[in-house]
Amino acid sequence: MHRRVLVLFAHPAIRRSRVNRVLLEAARGVEGVTVHDLYDHYPDFAVDPDREQALLLEHDAIVAQHPLFWYSAPALLKEWQDLVLEHGWAYGRNGHKLDGKLWMQAVTAGGGERAYSPDGLNRWSVEEMLRPFEATANLCRMVWQPPFVLHGAHVVSASDVEAAAEAYRARLSALRDGSPVRAVAG
Ligand SMILES: Cc1cc2nc3c(=O)[nH]c(=O)nc-3n(C[C@H](O)[C@H](O)[C@H](O)COP(=O)(O)O)c2cc1C
Repeated sequence: MHRRVLVLFAHPAIRRSRVNRVLLEAARGVEGVTVHDLYDHYPDFAVDPDREQALLLEHDAIVAQHPLFWYSAPALLKEWQDLVLEHGWAYGRNGHKLDGKLWMQAVTAGGGERAYSPDGLNRWSVEEMLRPFEATANLCRMVWQPPFVLHGAHVVSASDVEAAAEAYRARLSALRDGSPVRAVAG
């Protein structure tokens, strides 16, 4: 099994990024992975549904990589969902063009792992925060994969960022090669 992997990258200020830029470089280095930078393509939010749908059809596994913003994704990824996942195409009676494709998120969070525990500041884990994305994947009959999460984005050491990049590379390669998936927390 060899899957074509599409990374949908959503970060509004890559120049000021500390961790996503490293993870993105790691993704770019994985053979068989297409990186699509949404803020670069659509700085004015004018997402082109036809072009995006064509790109989705050319891939078997979709990875949305983004920083966690208000327990969700940066706004352009939401706009992308609203415009690209059309009724009659992504879901609905005659839709389901995404049937069977894998969906994974690669998320960086400012908060540490403890803050995302039941008695921590944010109460719920990042994976729980991503439930609306999971529900969306389900509705589109995509196969939800455990997210890749890097916690403590502002405080994690440079060597831990490198280790996370290596783990991310391994997750993307596993998606590509069809090996069993394993959640990796940074
Ligand atoms: C508008 C905004 C909202 C944010 N919301 C959250 C949040 O809900 N939870 C969290 O853990 N971090 C939050 N952060 C911190 C970012 O997740 C963090 O800056 C990012 O993961 C760092 O990645 P980078 O170095 O690639 O920019 C937020 C940051 C911004 C600017």
